[in-house]
Amino acid sequence: MEKISGKHILVVGATGGIGSESARLLKSSGANLFLMGRNRAKLLALAEGIGLAEQQCFAVDITRPNEVESAAHVIHREIGQLDILINSVGVGIIKPIDTLTYDDFMQSLNVNLIGAFNLLKAFLPPMKVQKKGLIINLPGVLGKTPMAGAAAYSASKYGLQGMLKSVREDLKRTDIRITNIFLGGTDTAFWDTIDMRVQRDKFVSAEEAAKAIWFLCQQPESGVVSELVLQPFNHQAI
Ligand SMILES: NC(=O)c1ccc[n+]([C@@H]2O[C@H](COP(=O)([O-])OP(=O)(O)OC[C@H]3O[C@@H](n4cnc5c(N)ncnc54)[C@H](OP(=O)(O)O)[C@@H]3O)[C@@H](O)[C@H]2O)c1
Repeated sequence: MEKISGKHILVVGATGGIGSESARLLKSSGANLFLMGRNRAKLLALAEGIGLAEQQCFAVDITRPNEVESAAHVIHREIGQLDILINSVGVGIIKPIDTLTYDDFMQSLNVNLIGAFNLLKAFLPPMKVQKKGLIINLPGVLGKTPMAGAAAYSASKYGLQGMLKSVREDLKRTDIRITNIFLGGTDTAFWDTIDMRVQRDKFVSAEEAAKAIWFLCQQPESGVVSELVLQPFNHQAI
């Protein structure tokens, strides 16, 4: 198993439920951690809570390529290349097609798919030079199997999965791993604005989802975990 200690790891979406729990775990395992998210105040509060410096935080909207590039430039200047990029950014717009608007659809694609593309464009090139690295994304179960009301979300997450599978082919001659996590319902603020009857007390906890990410950061040197599925026990969609 690879060690987390000393690894340069960026958690994007670090202010979210899964991102913040992952950041806590990875820091406690000795990672050299960087945090990225939209909200500077939330990022700084998290950083202070887990013992990171302000310089390790990057307030970035990942739909803006120039912001992502600038942060990547600063990070690469300091450490050369990331060992692990974790993209835990996502927006969940769950509405039936009748009420789903053009803006809903575009926002889903912009954050969940184009944002992930912007991260790849900024952080993959130095990994390619070293031919080494790990990129973890969270397409989720709805990136693999459909659900009513998920046209926009699933379009973005199926797209994310398709993009990453294709990039995996591009990277075949390197040791750069692409790992996709397919989580089912996980109890975070992601669900606060979703108008749907769900049993959040039966969901996977953010802590358990973060432990899966922590585990994936230590996958064996000789192999790759290309996919991991973790779903609530009472709702196994895959
Ligand atoms: N929760 C679930 O049931 C579930 C299931 C399967 C997959 N997933 C996926 O898991 C990932 C994490 O979800 P979560 O449950 O932790 O959700 P969450 O608590 O809502 O966190 C989402 C994170 O994304 C950030 N974000 C949103 N738009 C952004 C943008 N344009 N630029 C930068 N950051 C942005 C948010 O920042 P702010 O703090 O600024 O809003 C927040 O940090 C997402 O990709 C989600 O699709 C979640």
